[in-house]
Amino acid sequence: MKNDIQSVLFSQEELEAIVKRLGAQISEDYKGKNLLLVSILKGSIVFMSDLMRSITLPCRIDFMAVSSYGSGINSSGNVKIIKDLDISLEGYDLLIVEDILDSGRTLSSLMEILSTRKPKSIEICTLFDKPERREADVYAKYIGACVPDAFIVGYGLDYDEKYRNLPYVGILKPEVYEK
Ligand code: IMP
Ligand code: MG
Repeated sequence: MKNDIQSVLFSQEELEAIVKRLGAQISEDYKGKNLLLVSILKGSIVFMSDLMRSITLPCRIDFMAVSSYGSGINSSGNVKIIKDLDISLEGYDLLIVEDILDSGRTLSSLMEILSTRKPKSIEICTLFDKPERREADVYAKYIGACVPDAFIVGYGLDYDEKYRNLPYVGILKPEVYEK
């Protein structure tokens, strides 16, 4: 697994610091609100599990799974709901928790779908942002870090369902997906 990584972008300690900062900011902003964290499966599960423990306010959690990627490295633009939420969004201050904002297609379709369900508010918290690759117009209020235009894996992020369990985030060697 390690041999497929070109270089480490964020160590465990760096990821911890990023998540701590986001948790503190969210805890400040959502005081007195009705916070619901929705994690987008599967890429955001590691981030979600750390982020929720760095938030000091009461909150609820739910999960949603969408498909847009398949096994390649580019988003298809067709967002399909594979697993929907268990609860209704009415009355909640919804915070979507995502691993990475790339073309933006996934989150822009998701924002459209979820805003019709009448949450009190809706914002995005993404661990990573690849602004150079943006095609759809999406605003993320909370961003962990910007990353270069390279395919990254680890800390939940996969290539072809692999590397999610790496405790750090690294750039995948291009020969792995160009094979
Ligand atoms: P978008 O629709 O192009 O913004 O794609 C977002 C989704 O693509 C993310 O939720 C990830 O699952 C996946 N993705 C985009 N870039 C990367 C990457 O560098 N590594 C791993 N997954 C990625
Ligand atoms: Mg993925």
